[in-house]
Amino acid sequence: MSLILSEKHNGVLTITINRPEKKNALTRGMYLSMADALLGIEHDESIKTVLFRGEGDCFTSGNDITDFAERKEGDTVNESLIFMRALFNCEVPVVAQVHGVAVGIGTTMLLHCDFIYAETNTRFVLPFINLGLVPEFASSYLLPKMAGHAKASELLMLGEPFGTEDACQFGVITGSFSAAELPAKVESVCKKLVGKPLFALLQTKSLLKNDSESTLHHMDIETDVFTQAAGTEAAREAFDAFLSKRPINPEKFK
Ligand code: COA
Repeated sequence: MSLILSEKHNGVLTITINRPEKKNALTRGMYLSMADALLGIEHDESIKTVLFRGEGDCFTSGNDITDFAERKEGDTVNESLIFMRALFNCEVPVVAQVHGVAVGIGTTMLLHCDFIYAETNTRFVLPFINLGLVPEFASSYLLPKMAGHAKASELLMLGEPFGTEDACQFGVITGSFSAAELPAKVESVCKKLVGKPLFALLQTKSLLKNDSESTLHHMDIETDVFTQAAGTEAAREAFDAFLSKRPINPEKFK
């Protein structure tokens, strides 16, 4: 079974992250599959909405840490960048249906979606600092604008989980619903979006995204710093500790 499922139905492209046994951790290949699915609808006027969801008990646990650990010095974050650029450039509205946990890029990508609905008990976390890493894909630019500098500092420099109440208040999600209500809510929003006139829909999204140049600029800056951070001793220690299921050695995490 494919790790990324994409299906076009009734004007909606649904992209399902399908690696439940690894909490939907995203590998290089999975980023490329998601980018392909997004790029594949660029000139397809029958698709007016994209929906992201996760199979199993969570949305995604973020980047596969094995992939991080296997990076060679100087390796760039190419595949995730290709995906995030495709998401950033997606002209139709993007809806995310989130449940369980959304870790790392699982939360970062939500900052680039348009409608984000989460199950009430979802936990979000931007754990980069605790892995010796830095924010990615313009989150250090977008989050302060959404949540304010003080809250963004807390989220990005402490890297602790937060719930749907905070996520709603920060503007990270649109709303939260019970597990029983969520699928119907998402379906109804997708249906409404598909019913809108295409030109007006695309232009409205484009007009809302009036800060694209600065966002892309920050994405590039963060990608460079992220690449450097991933090669530090602290990051290597954090990756190895997670994969070996052991606590981080503070002597190597400075
Ligand atoms: N990368 C690689 N493997 C991952 C992973 C990730 N991001 N997240 C989970 N897995 C793997 C676990 O190693 C485990 O593999 P195993 O069955 O071979 O031992 C399996 O998925 C199940 O995860 P587990 O940790 O046992 O589930 P849990 O319910 O106890 O915890 C999480 C779920 C998401 C809280 C926890 O897995 C986690 O913290 N993952 C890492 C998140 C992270 O730091 N991501 C990187 C962001 S930059």
